[in-house]
Amino acid sequence: VVRDAKVLSQEVSSSVHLHSDYGGVVPEIASRFHTEYIYPVVRKAIDDAGVKKGEIELVAVTSGPGLPGSLLVGLSFAKAVSLALGVPIIGVNHLKAHMISCFIRPLFEIDDKFPFVGMVASGGHTGLYRCDGLDKWESIGRTRDDAVGEAFDKVAKIMGLGYPGGPRVEKRANRYKGTSPIDFPRAMLKGDKGLDFSFSGIKTAVLYYWKGCDKSESEIDRICYSFQKAVTEIIVEKLRRAMVFSGCRRLAVGGGVVENAAIRSGIEDMCEKNGYIFFLPSRKLCGDNAVMVAALGEALFLRGVRSDLTLNVSAVMN
Ligand code: KG4
Ligand code: ZN
Repeated sequence: VVRDAKVLSQEVSSSVHLHSDYGGVVPEIASRFHTEYIYPVVRKAIDDAGVKKGEIELVAVTSGPGLPGSLLVGLSFAKAVSLALGVPIIGVNHLKAHMISCFIRPLFEIDDKFPFVGMVASGGHTGLYRCDGLDKWESIGRTRDDAVGEAFDKVAKIMGLGYPGGPRVEKRANRYKGTSPIDFPRAMLKGDKGLDFSFSGIKTAVLYYWKGCDKSESEIDRICYSFQKAVTEIIVEKLRRAMVFSGCRRLAVGGGVVENAAIRSGIEDMCEKNGYIFFLPSRKLCGDNAVMVAALGEALFLRGVRSDLTLNVSAVMN
């Protein structure tokens, strides 16, 4: 629940533990969990915010991109709330919500931040955008295969570390105290401004390394450290190129992977070195959350954007 971009309550219910045996999100399990939990979660968010139902003036909901089965649960519920309370509904793009999550402070002062380069680094998406206004986003780079979070998840799965892989790989990487990391490939891709990403090569390199190594605890730490280091360098270099290509001075990054401390400090160092202004979300707002959706929905609504009950979900959106 958000008012004037001030967070009144934040409630996250995650089905992540139900997917850990499978090494990734199982769409059917996710949407069943959503159906079961959406009412109590929304109820708790409203209660924690200390607002009455009658004070709610707008319902914002993710309309895409994402898994249609899960999106439909949220959208159907949001439509019901909108109808029952007689308040407008607004559909929000999940990727844009990730990119504005770093601007959620007590006050939502986004207008003076444009233009900026935005990046989403999550389990489902990895892309670079030039952002000129709340309704003006241009895609300038994307992954050609895995999303970066997905690469963390797959590498963790190879080593039997469980799901989600990102936090587990980071924890193991922090334990590495050696000085001879493995030199995994950094796919920098030259063509098309060199702003696209590819993580399948490094994933395969980890797989082959894993098959030939002694699988000791210290070797797992070393692989995690080396993988995280390579991915950090790829992200930092792509962001640097995107800043040069776009001519922007400001950078905003969001998504679950931005919880990673090594990646955060890599981005900070690059920006400080080049005099760029950067915005990173607080750790609580990196992963999927409703606050970023509510805040973007409110900002769009105040700028005259409207949806109606014909709103549908979309698996793919720019
Ligand atoms: O944004 P998010 O919560 O969901 C999607 O929209 O996908 O991102 C989840 C992804 C997962 O792939 C997870 O492994 C990754 O973010 N992740 C991390 C870390 N924490 C979460 N990756 C690297 N380091 C982390 N600390
Ligand atoms: Zn997300």
